[in-house]
Parts: sequence; structure tokens; C-alpha cells
Amino acid sequence: MNINEIRSQFPVLDQQVYGKPLVYLDNAATTQKPLCVIDRERDYYLHENCNIHRGVHYLSQQATEAYEHARQTVARFVNAPEAHEIVFTRGTTESLNLLATSLGRMIVESETGKGGPHCVPLTVLVTAMEHHSNLVPWQQLVQQQGGKLLVAPMDDDGVLDLQAYEERLKQGPQIVAMAHVSNTLGTVNPIKEMIRLAHQYGALTVVDGAQSMAHLPIDVQDLDCDFFVFSGHKMYAPMGIGGLYGKTKWLEQMPPYQFGGEMVDTVSFERTTFNKLPFKFEAGTPNVGAALGLETAIGFIEGLDRSAVAAHEALLVNATLERLAAIEGMRFIGQAPERSGLVSFVIDGIHPYDLGTIIDKMGVAVRTGHHCAEPVMTRFGIPGTVRASFAVYNTLEEIDVFVKAVSRAAMMLR
Ligand code: ALA
Repeated sequence: MNINEIRSQFPVLDQQVYGKPLVYLDNAATTQKPLCVIDRERDYYLHENCNIHRGVHYLSQQATEAYEHARQTVARFVNAPEAHEIVFTRGTTESLNLLATSLGRMIVESETGKGGPHCVPLTVLVTAMEHHSNLVPWQQLVQQQGGKLLVAPMDDDGVLDLQAYEERLKQGPQIVAMAHVSNTLGTVNPIKEMIRLAHQYGALTVVDGAQSMAHLPIDVQDLDCDFFVFSGHKMYAPMGIGGLYGKTKWLEQMPPYQFGGEMVDTVSFERTTFNKLPFKFEAGTPNVGAALGLETAIGFIEGLDRSAVAAHEALLVNATLERLAAIEGMRFIGQAPERSGLVSFVIDGIHPYDLGTIIDKMGVAVRTGHHCAEPVMTRFGIPGTVRASFAVYNTLEEIDVFVKAVSRAAMMLR
């Protein structure tokens, strides 16, 4: 893999901040975008912009076709059996809110109204390492229903306790929501096994793929998950686009999440019937330009040698761990053997925010704080971490700059 050639596709990387070359290590928050993605979105607005699924005229038909082609590309990328099983959303957060609202209603209504297999109140199982987006919507849902949120714990390395997970499953949750990769610890969860166990106990499974789509191959049929959600902007695509995969049998039973144009079939003042999948879940004008950018980003990822990318990213993680370990007072948060894409740490006696602020002045961009996963910080008894997260364009030279910057900052702050 020629990293310089890859970097040349990301002009934003080639700049100085505070007079220093930018070292961008905040890719778990958002990746930078290659020129092909930027051009695709620009081209759409230059030549193709039109509302979709509505007009008989040329531009509308072209834009509709392009948007539906993007949906097919996403379906192929995650190996979904049907394109209508992909619903475009603004991203992971919206996908999870959609599921908490709509799937929650489906389960509760089937249980109370038609006497389904589970008993109310609703119980949802999450892991101890969830991002707030895969925690708060479920927590609010069960609280509204008088239900219960169960949490599967992890050990001091940030590895999920599978035995405790199975114990929680015995309490009969109807939904299990799990991070594929933790945004704070980098842990890769054994989701295939977690899904298998969840199904064994009769629960539906929701996988938060926000931090995995850019790094790991996703095959929803092999995983057999009921739902898989993701964000485009963390995989080289524009902001404001993402989606969810759901099995047809569930999407068909689930009530709509938002109401408005496009998601209806017939409307009168007395009654509304809803559109077929996936349009039932796509009320209003979608972000067509970003969806086309997402399709191009998938092309960009598929154009790379994915196993070489994985090896390169593992090299960056290992080099970072090894070089940072020499700094006095270093404590890594998250030491799972199966990990992906990032390194989180604290240094004794130094607030992560202070460290992040100083290395920013040296040109290094990392994220500091609780990373929208406050319960993880509580679990480890810390206010936050410094997190360096990687993408295909990062280099070992950048790791050197980063580690030297951390070392200098630590000396200044002691
Ligand atoms: N969820 C993103 C992160 O972890 C914003 O930084």
C-alpha cells in the first residue's frame, strides 16, 4: 500500500496548524474525506440536484436512480440480502433512536395487544462499554415503559464478560444492543457469539457498527444480526448520512418512526396507509448528495487492499502502545487482545484535557474527555482519557510526532 498516494487524496491533511504540520489522530470522531467523495457530492449539486421519488422529469428520475443505486451499494457492502433492508438515516444516532422508538413499540404492542412470547415490561440488555447513543435511547425507552435496562459488565482490560452476559440473557431481555467496536477502549466484541447467544434466549439483536464499518468487513448474513447501524462520516463519507440494516420480517412489522412525505401510501383526513420498505422509514427529503458520497466512500474502501489496511492499522496501534508505554505514569484504558483502530490512555496526575490542549499546539489532533461514554469512565474511575484513533492515511512518522508531543506535554505538566 502506498500511503503517500493515499494521503494525496486527502488535501485536508496537508496543512499546518499553529505553524506545525497537522497530525490528525481523531478518526473515531470523524474521518477525513478523499477527493473522490468531495467531488461526488459537488458533482451532484453542480449537475444532478433534484428531489427524489417525486418528479416525472429527467433530473428527478436520474437522482432517484442514483440514490437507489447507492442503497444497493450499501446493501452489497454489508451483504444484506435485499436493498430494501437498508434504511438511510443521518447516522448511527438517528438509526438507534429509530429502533428504540419503532422496535420498542412493535414489541410492546405485540405483547400487550396480541399476547406475544415475551412478557412486558420491556427489558433491554446493553454492554458496559456503550456510547451514549446506544445507551440513552434504550434507557429512555425502558423508563417510559416501566421496564428495565440490564448491563453486561467488562473486566479491567475492557473485555466483555461473556458469562455475565449470558446470565443477563437469562433475565429475558427482548432486545440486546451491543457495540461492535468500543469507541473508547477499541475493544472488538465477539458479536457473532453474542448474537447467537441472544437468539438462543429469544432476544432481538442490534449491533452498533459506528466504529467498525471503516475497519472490519461486515457481513450481516453471517452475523445473523437483526439490525446493524452505522455512520457514513466515520468511513470517509460526508456527514449527515448513515443507515441501518434490518431483517425484512422485523422492518415490515415495525411502525414508522417519523411521519410526512414519501413514507405514505394513501392519506385522507380519517386514515393513512404507509409506503413499502424502505420508504416507510424515510419521511421527508433525504440527503441525496451525501448518500452518493457514501457510495463513493464505499468504492474508495473497496479500492484498497482491505487486509493490508487492517495490517497497517494494527501496526499503528501496536507502535503507539509500545512507544507510549515508555512514558512515566502511563496507564492504558482498554487492553483487549481483540482491538481495532485506537489507543486510549491517562497519565498519573495529569488531566487528559490539559494534555490534549498542549499537544494540539504542537499540531496533534486527538480527542480528550469521556468520548460520550461516561459510564466507561466511571467504571475505570477516571474523568476521561486521551484517545488517538487511526485511519488508513496515518503513518508511523505521525505516531512518532504524537508520542514525542505527549512526552513533552507530560514533562511540562508535572
Ligand atoms: N462518537 C464519536 C467519537 O467517539 C463522536 O468520538
